[in-house]
Amino acid sequence: MKERSIAAMLRGQKKHISFHTPGHKRAGADITELSYSDCLLSPQGILKEAQEQIALILGAERSFLLTDGSTSGVFSMLWALRSAGARLVAAPVFSHPSFLNACKVFGLEAVPIPLRTKFGIPLQPSPQEAEEALLKADALFCTSPDYYGNFPDLAALSSLCKREKKPLLLDGAHGGHLHFTPSLYAGSYADLWVDGVHKSLPALTQGAVVSAKTEQWGPLLEEGVKMFRTSSPSYPIMASVEYAVTFPRNLPIERAANAFKTQYGCVNNADWTKLLVPFGEKCNEAQRFLEGRGVYPEFNDGNYLMFYLSPCTKAGELKKLGRLLKKLPRGGVEENAPAGVISMYREGL
Ligand SMILES: Cc1ncc(COP(=O)(O)O)c(C=O)c1O
Repeated sequence: MKERSIAAMLRGQKKHISFHTPGHKRAGADITELSYSDCLLSPQGILKEAQEQIALILGAERSFLLTDGSTSGVFSMLWALRSAGARLVAAPVFSHPSFLNACKVFGLEAVPIPLRTKFGIPLQPSPQEAEEALLKADALFCTSPDYYGNFPDLAALSSLCKREKKPLLLDGAHGGHLHFTPSLYAGSYADLWVDGVHKSLPALTQGAVVSAKTEQWGPLLEEGVKMFRTSSPSYPIMASVEYAVTFPRNLPIERAANAFKTQYGCVNNADWTKLLVPFGEKCNEAQRFLEGRGVYPEFNDGNYLMFYLSPCTKAGELKKLGRLLKKLPRGGVEENAPAGVISMYREGL
């Protein structure tokens, strides 16, 4: 950890009498915006430095710390888009509910890219499908990677948007770990993007970052974050986001995860952090068996159990998962799973 960081500032606090929020008064790191701890609405000190360092790492012109999840990042991006004059946004129908909610709030109209699935998994839009929708819209919004660890053709979407002179917005709620892999990283392609740092990096829940690629978008995005972020930002969350974004790459676990996918018949997706094990109708039985042995999956969608990894996953944890998976019978996946993530998102839209 570098010498000047939010965490170092918190550690270096001197004992003092607190006549300020939060009501529990200085329980360790959970402080408020004081003369020495900067102010997120108008950062001049340690938070400004943290945001600048994060922007440098993520390849952004401006990056903003979020303590309210990627949801507030999606709202802020769409606010920036609306302020730039857009009215119609092309997006896959399996986009996260925060996308449609923000559209409703801002009077933006979604131009839907229809859902196709394969083996019960939503497919990312093809460049042709994205083009068809984008020609009727002012911007393109995609999720990259999605909850199933799949990516759209980012290079093709970026060229398409450049050709049409329309912005590309990427929801990277599940891609905070990808800044190490420029070819898959949202920030290599998007005008505006969000990194859900708390999902795939070691940040506290709700820790996220929203970024703008160029100065053209910086002030509009800033206007958005000032509206959709809490005015009482959590210092533990902000310190954890800074820590997570600077967390080193863990190549051994990435390699072990990719080998695991082949060894245990996982879906061959491109994101190493998302292990999708097909159990079909045996999903519930498998989940009960694993949880009875202290192993909890991220989700059970009626076709697959998904195990979410991060650079903090330990090799021993993967080994234990592998040992248990060997004991479990697999079922057949159905195109329309009875329950699950896709249907949850469909309801959202
Ligand atoms: C694709 C996608 N976008 C946005 C979000 C919202 O993220 P958060 O829960 O951090 O607000 C989620 C949450 O699951 C998501 O899956």
